[in-house]
Amino acid sequence: MSIQSKSAVAKGDGTFIITNVTVAEPKAGELLVKIKAAGLCHTDYDSLTWGKPIVMGHEGAGIIEKVGPEIKDLKVGDQVLLNWATPCLSCFQCQEGNQHICENNSPVVAGGNGHTPGHAHLEGSQWEGKPIERSFNLGTLSEYALVKESAVVKIEEENLNFSAASIISCGVMTGYGSVVNSAKLAAGSSAVILGCGGVGLNVINACEISGAGRIIAVDINPNKLELAKQFGATDVILADKADVGLANVAEQVKTMLGGRGADYAFECTAIPALGAAPLAMIRNAGTAVQVSGIEEDITIDMRLFEWDKIYINPLYGKCRPQIDFPKLVRLYKKGDLKLDEMITKEYKLDDLQLALDDMLAGKNAKGVIVFD
Ligand SMILES: NC(=O)c1ccc[n+]([C@@H]2O[C@H](COP(=O)([O-])OP(=O)(O)OC[C@H]3O[C@@H](n4cnc5c(N)ncnc54)[C@H](O)[C@@H]3O)[C@@H](O)[C@H]2O)c1
Ligand SMILES: [Zn+2]
Ligand SMILES: [Zn+2]
Repeated sequence: MSIQSKSAVAKGDGTFIITNVTVAEPKAGELLVKIKAAGLCHTDYDSLTWGKPIVMGHEGAGIIEKVGPEIKDLKVGDQVLLNWATPCLSCFQCQEGNQHICENNSPVVAGGNGHTPGHAHLEGSQWEGKPIERSFNLGTLSEYALVKESAVVKIEEENLNFSAASIISCGVMTGYGSVVNSAKLAAGSSAVILGCGGVGLNVINACEISGAGRIIAVDINPNKLELAKQFGATDVILADKADVGLANVAEQVKTMLGGRGADYAFECTAIPALGAAPLAMIRNAGTAVQVSGIEEDITIDMRLFEWDKIYINPLYGKCRPQIDFPKLVRLYKKGDLKLDEMITKEYKLDDLQLALDDMLAGKNAKGVIVFD
């Protein structure tokens, strides 16, 4: 029996509506999750212009409402975090340990948030009489999400704080994983973070957890720098928008770090003109990390790589959902991973426009949509 699920549907033309999506029973290997909370990320704003109707949202946490046939280890009532990697566990990359870039299921590897077998059966979600895709195989900005079993991670902790848990799914995992899984930041080292939004603040938090000695936060918004201090920044630099490529900031960073530059720099702004900036911040043989996923053509002065610099471009913090998500929940319970502090404001789904406006205005560390 199908149900009506109040959802945010991006229309593909830059707008969205709150509307009912008809959701079917889960088929084999699928689950119906009642969403309790869904975090907002800049990518949700991007999803408004993907040129096709889509159930929005790709971060979230909830409770299993129904299980389809052939589901063995999960049951109705289980608390779950949603993840958009949905690894198949059998392709070349999954076997290599790169579940986040699964060759069969990743909506990102497929390009343009492509529809993949990581998505629950497409006809299972219908809008205006037609099948509709779910953002990143999830579509968490909806009362109910029909997803593949591989899209959920069961969380055993009692009385899970769903708001806090919901942001693990993307921004926290991306920030933490880029530092710990990808850059493998060494204790005592120095790091520069360009852009202190939802992702950048999580990079800062992870640098602190990893024992970085200097954590230099850079943003054009002074409010974000105040937040950065709360999440572990030891130094902050207010950048000037006119400082294209952040050349002045790079000079300040060098001066602060013995004339040499940082061991690591993380780019978290998604601004194409800053694509080369992390290279300018690091010392010889340092590591630059492209966290935001800039996809435009940019020009790079190859001397910025001199000498022996490494520039990596991790996706989703090299997420291995079943390993990383429970670990992040444990770090949160221990008080190291600051998730409650990350949530500036909770909104109802009907107030999604306000939540997006607040995000774009830089008011929030993270906004979360909560469901009854
Ligand atoms: N690679 C991945 O796996 C992955 C995962 C999640 C999100 N993302 C991407 O990461 C990007 C950041 O996401 P977010 O949610 O943190 O966005 P956000 O808008 O919250 O943060 C961007 C920050 O950059 C700052 N900024 C803007 N111009 C700047 C400049 N010239 N110098 C310094 N700082 C500047 C802004 O003030 C803001 O604080 C988005 O594009 C998102 O799509 C990538
Ligand atoms: Zn795979
Ligand atoms: Zn995201």
